[in-house]
Amino acid sequence: MRVKHKPALSEAALQVGRVDPVFVDVHSHVVPSGDDGAQSNEEGLELCRSAAQNGTTVLYATPHVWPMLPLPPEREETIRASHAELARAAAAFGLDLRLGFELTPTTALLEEDPNRFRLGDLPAVLMEVPFHGSLDLAERLAEHIEAVGLVPVIAHPERSQAVLDDQGLAAGMAERGWLLQVNATSIVGYHGAEIEASAWRLVDDGLAGLVASDGHRRARPPHLNEAFRAVQARLGEGANALFDGRALPAGDRVDLAERR
Ligand SMILES: [Fe+2]
Repeated sequence: MRVKHKPALSEAALQVGRVDPVFVDVHSHVVPSGDDGAQSNEEGLELCRSAAQNGTTVLYATPHVWPMLPLPPEREETIRASHAELARAAAAFGLDLRLGFELTPTTALLEEDPNRFRLGDLPAVLMEVPFHGSLDLAERLAEHIEAVGLVPVIAHPERSQAVLDDQGLAAGMAERGWLLQVNATSIVGYHGAEIEASAWRLVDDGLAGLVASDGHRRARPPHLNEAFRAVQARLGEGANALFDGRALPAGDRVDLAERR
């Protein structure tokens, strides 16, 4: 009997069989908190469902802590109650919804214990760099976070004018062990061509530590799959590490000076 040789798998067939990583998204505004994200638990739950349907298995809700919208105990309590309710509902469709915050740098935050703002139980805190102006205060806040053994996760540096003018500033932050978090929306061009190019420079130069959605609402949902496809087309398997959460620190405290 003649043995029929299997034809070699075509590249297209291999693509079909490729398994996507599990997406871990550290930045979203799906828990209502009085900011510009979800305005109700119903809207938040719809965004969570949409995230799960698009491949996200762990999603951090990170309500803004703004100069004009700080986090007094009453606001924090309301947020934690909404998160608990949404997390229970999201678990039913396989989404692990966790809570953190996104800090906008202020001098007041330099007086706070950064542990209060951790991403779930990770030794990490999400903070943004300003769109305009100097990064000095952001650097001081990141140093304050680092000083208590937590890793600053720097939200969307590609959108900062200072970084657009001088990418060396982003390289300096990455060298300090701070995790640079590029937005999926920047990668797919939602914020315009200049920011898209800036995001890709950070990815291409190996400065981006991870990609997150920064999802706010239906028109700007917490999705990572489109950005993942784009990064995968460029980096191949190397894309997974930016999306699957392995870049996130573990344990209770991290000594960044030791890791540099
Ligand atoms: Fe955000």
